[in-house]
Amino acid sequence: MNAMGGSLPSDGYDPFDLNTPHSRWKAFREDEPIFFHEPTGYWIVSRYDDIKAIFDDWQTFSSENAQKPVRPMGPAARKVLTDGGFTAYSGLTARVPPDHTRIRKVAQSCFGPRRFKSIEPQIETIVARHLDMLEAAGRSGQPVNFWEIVAYPVPAHVLFTLMGIPDADVPRIKQYGASRGKMTWGDPSDEDQIAIAHDMVAYWKYIHDLLDLRRANPGDDFPSDLLRLQAEGAEITDEEIAGVLYSTLFAGHETTSTFMGNYVVAMMDNRNAWDEIRANPALIANAVEEMLRYMPSVVGWRRKARHAKTVGGVDLPAGAEILMITGSANRDESHFPDGETLNIHRDNARSHLSFGYGIHYCLGFQLAKMEAQALLRQLSQRFPTLRLAPGFRPDYHRNIGFRVPKSVLVEWDNAQ
Ligand code: HEM
Repeated sequence: MNAMGGSLPSDGYDPFDLNTPHSRWKAFREDEPIFFHEPTGYWIVSRYDDIKAIFDDWQTFSSENAQKPVRPMGPAARKVLTDGGFTAYSGLTARVPPDHTRIRKVAQSCFGPRRFKSIEPQIETIVARHLDMLEAAGRSGQPVNFWEIVAYPVPAHVLFTLMGIPDADVPRIKQYGASRGKMTWGDPSDEDQIAIAHDMVAYWKYIHDLLDLRRANPGDDFPSDLLRLQAEGAEITDEEIAGVLYSTLFAGHETTSTFMGNYVVAMMDNRNAWDEIRANPALIANAVEEMLRYMPSVVGWRRKARHAKTVGGVDLPAGAEILMITGSANRDESHFPDGETLNIHRDNARSHLSFGYGIHYCLGFQLAKMEAQALLRQLSQRFPTLRLAPGFRPDYHRNIGFRVPKSVLVEWDNAQ
């Protein structure tokens, strides 16, 4: 409610509800670009320039709250974590300089374009295998869940190739990832929190066991590279290596799965774009950038003000917890003309904020794009008549940061 008794876009706002957020975010950008949201205790920021300025000023706006559960864990769940020896917090995203700078340098030297490029053939094979499964499922004549058969598993299989982890472990790592997403950015009940805590304990143990295995028997994979660099004198502790793996085993697939689920919905809703990329696959690279802008997986990210600072004319106090709605920044008309429209020819699509900005910029962005492009290329060639199942609209999990569909039901004409 404003001073004149009129309503404000923030009235009744529920930041966990990501079903149809865009019209409200547009209203925020126009009328309340930065406001304090009492129920969560976060300052909500929605304009492109303000969010970019916050990302850029890491000396004032620290990432220390980036992995903090939005809903604090209750005593029962905390006990499960403590009894289970769970001590992980963050590998990189919530670390601050100088530790962040030191650890990122080590991780980056194992995760460069050379390593990603080397698995390009495997990415194509993993995608093809899952599209075979999609095709087989389509023979039933019923709508098929693209999310479950393709988007959910493909990035995990790709990441596991880099990690040297057997495919058989995909289901449990995906479960740990989903639990971690709920614990940190979701809205879990007390009961859910206990199940999540058990998963987190198992996840942390999995990482320590993996490191023990690689110490005993090094391979050509990411964990072995980190251990090798440590042995050669890189400044990184055992616990920090475990933290980096804890991050990567989540960030390296949940983000990309969600993006793939979302971009198929975006493509099916924009048939012209789909037809264009089918006719001219050279458009796919920019189409992926545009979909990262328009329909990303990460739509909210956090920072904390170390001291008071004015942003966009609003005084943010010392200690302010900030939720940057990057999903809104990506549609800000002042930076992206006609921002609410998908336009695969947009020339500044790449300046979206879906991978963050500044010192924490996503380390896996090249891999995510390679995977997204490979899938889009194969999917558009093999399933030209793909469409959403009649009447289907995705329903999204409750979360402040990740816009994760519960399913993506599709169909196509079988004789193709
Ligand atoms: C579409 C897919 C992806 C999206 C939307 C995404 C998004 C993000 C975002 C928003 C951040 C925080 C940036 C900031 O604070 O400025 C981040 C950081 C990070 N991402 Fe990604 N990511 C994706 C894929 C990946 C993949 C595939 C990997 C690994 C293979 C990865 C590894 C990381 C790591 C290690 C960081 C921490 C960087 C740091 O704090 O220095 N991400 N990502």
